Amino acid sequence: MASRYSRLPEDKFPVSASLRKPSYEQPRAERYTPQRQWIRRIIPAILTLVALFSLFRAAFVCRHHYDPAKSFSQVAVDEDSEKVPLEIHVMSKCPDARDCLRDLILPTMVEVSDKVNFTMSFIGSVDPKSDAVSCKHGPGECLGNEILLCAAKVYPDVKIWLGFANCMISDYPDIPNRDLVESCAMEHGIDFSKLNGCISDEGEGIGLLRSSIERSEEYNVTKSCTVRLAGEVRCVRDGGKWYDCPGGSAVKDLVGDVSDLYNKGTN
Ligand SMILES: *[C@@H]1O[C@H](CO)[C@@H](O)[C@H](O)[C@H]1NC(C)=O
Ligand SMILES: *[C@@H]1O[C@H](CO)[C@@H](O)[C@H](O)[C@H]1NC(C)=O
Repeated sequence: MASRYSRLPEDKFPVSASLRKPSYEQPRAERYTPQRQWIRRIIPAILTLVALFSLFRAAFVCRHHYDPAKSFSQVAVDEDSEKVPLEIHVMSKCPDARDCLRDLILPTMVEVSDKVNFTMSFIGSVDPKSDAVSCKHGPGECLGNEILLCAAKVYPDVKIWLGFANCMISDYPDIPNRDLVESCAMEHGIDFSKLNGCISDEGEGIGLLRSSIERSEEYNVTKSCTVRLAGEVRCVRDGGKWYDCPGGSAVKDLVGDVSDLYNKGTN
């Protein structure tokens, strides 16, 4: 039967800062020696910052290139109504989700984030008779999913929360360890206490997760990672392979499809 997160307080991060770690973190504690921490976290942090910098620069250059006469805010408002829906359905503790973000979604967003309305939805199951949810890789995965949904809710700017999500899922076996959440939050300018409030019993995290899982069910999506573009399945990454990718699974293919749809929408 589905286990309910809020009935498992030891799975939550303690709200006060004194702090016993959840028992399932302990076997991995030795992995966070300062030196490994440096290699595992700081180098990816630098690479992510470089990617985010080019994301900002690309958005800035595109706006000026396409619409030099309009002010920044007018252009931003016009663009909102034209954005192409791009959605991925994932499980946070899944290697295919990591590959999908790293190899396709993040590099695509670096190029076309200004043309895309991006959504990340989660795959799991909900108990129709209660508000319980369960996740394939256990309660830790449900908590990880909640943390990512909370980040997107509190920081709607996709450059921030998608960077954070990629940071977390790059180290998916360690989700939802507090060390990982804190270091990814710090890297992306996210306030850990806001995430912690959102995943607490009184927070909205569990409700966000339930709606997100129901959304994936509504679209009959069961594989992590399923990429849907403008409502259609565009590509699936599953078992370490891409399939159901009619237009190709390369970044340039997806970038091209997004640009074509965006240009059609504006004509
Ligand atoms: C973006 O997509 C979500 C669903 O994924 C939808 O609820 C929202 O209204 C969309 N936003 C815009 C600006 O189209
Ligand atoms: C999902 O599957 C059900 C049952 O097979 C079908 O009725 C429904 O139209 C499907 N929904 C979508 C969005 O494909």
